[in-house]
Amino acid sequence: MRTVSVELGDRSYAIKIAPGLLKQLGQECARLKLGRRCAIITDSIVGKKYARPAFESLVLAGFEPLLIIIPAGEKSKRVSVVEKCFDRLAAHRLERKSFIVALGGGVVGDLAGFVAATYLRGIPFVQVPTTLLAQVDSSVGGKTGVNLQAGKNLVGAFYQPQLVLCDLDALKTLPNREYVSGLAEVIKYGVIYDAILFAQLERQLPKLLQREAATLAAVIARCCEIKANIVGQDETESDLRAILNFGHTIGHAIENSSGYGKFLHGEAIAIGQVAAAKLSQTILGLPSADAERIEQLFVAAGLPVRIKLNGKRREKLFAAMRLDKKVSGGEIKFVLAEKIGKVRFGCKVQSHHFSGMTDVLVTTRRPA
Ligand code: NAD
Ligand code: GLY
Repeated sequence: MRTVSVELGDRSYAIKIAPGLLKQLGQECARLKLGRRCAIITDSIVGKKYARPAFESLVLAGFEPLLIIIPAGEKSKRVSVVEKCFDRLAAHRLERKSFIVALGGGVVGDLAGFVAATYLRGIPFVQVPTTLLAQVDSSVGGKTGVNLQAGKNLVGAFYQPQLVLCDLDALKTLPNREYVSGLAEVIKYGVIYDAILFAQLERQLPKLLQREAATLAAVIARCCEIKANIVGQDETESDLRAILNFGHTIGHAIENSSGYGKFLHGEAIAIGQVAAAKLSQTILGLPSADAERIEQLFVAAGLPVRIKLNGKRREKLFAAMRLDKKVSGGEIKFVLAEKIGKVRFGCKVQSHHFSGMTDVLVTTRRPA
């Protein structure tokens, strides 16, 4: 088993990465010295496959779990679903020492984490991420929250889990589109922080696409190490943590303006990262060879690198970008790359620079 620690003083926690961890959920939770009553929050798809072993493992370790199943998909990441969860927790009499297990992908993790952060002003929670994206990114670092009509993740809290259990076996049942979408966050770590990882991804992509266990374990552990390192230095995104948003300003706007669910998160941020690389060429002098390698790796992974927009949708996308959380004082701040492995945050981008992205955000004349 690989263990990565997130160092945050008395809120430090371990990320454990290995096959078969779900069966050990009960034992692992018992080590945390929490209350007996707990709730598993999962979604309708993950629940069918993994709720039973999670539930049984908790019972075997002496816990009294409640199972809450939300509909699968981004649309569940909303305030009304949070309220339904609160009602179930209250009916099951969860109290301050009780805890929540978030069993699922980033949607479940973000929602269940937010429920844990706010129910009784905060109860402990454990992340059991079951998608690649959740294992390398969303389950680590304590960003929790839900979407509003106006934009993604506009309501939320920084709230750290007590433990993250990445069971590599869970990835075996992940649909290919979801798995590949997770690779977009994996590639992001290479671009923003680790040129060696980026080169390793270029070499080992075929093995990764086959979900080869040893390669996957090493890559997930490295991504978690990078994220733990960044979050350990800047938990609440005052500065450095912003680099994790590479490609996200455009990516979130793509998700929002096309209606949640059309593009998977990873697909949207793949396009966003390629667009950010184009901007980086103009603004920070990112070598064109590096921009090319970035685009090629996304293409080789099977991720989209372009989006076609008519005038109306293009306007909607730019409006969504202006609503993003990264906007401050009316200015859209971007994370841009100097070279592979090194980025800068807080880069001011003027509207005329957007023309640099026209071969990624391709304008068409077709009707809306
Ligand atoms: P998701 O949670 O919607 O999961 C994707 C799909 O895969 C769902 O249909 C789910 O039911 C299914 N699934 C999950 N695990 C499975 C498994 N093992 N086998 C079969 N099916 C499985 O999506 P996601 O990509 O994991 O997460 C996206 C969300 O994460 C977005 O809401 C995004 O905003 C958020 N996010 C948060 C952070 C953060 O730091 N908190 C970071 C990145 C993304
Ligand atoms: N995924 C961005 C962050 O955790 O900060």
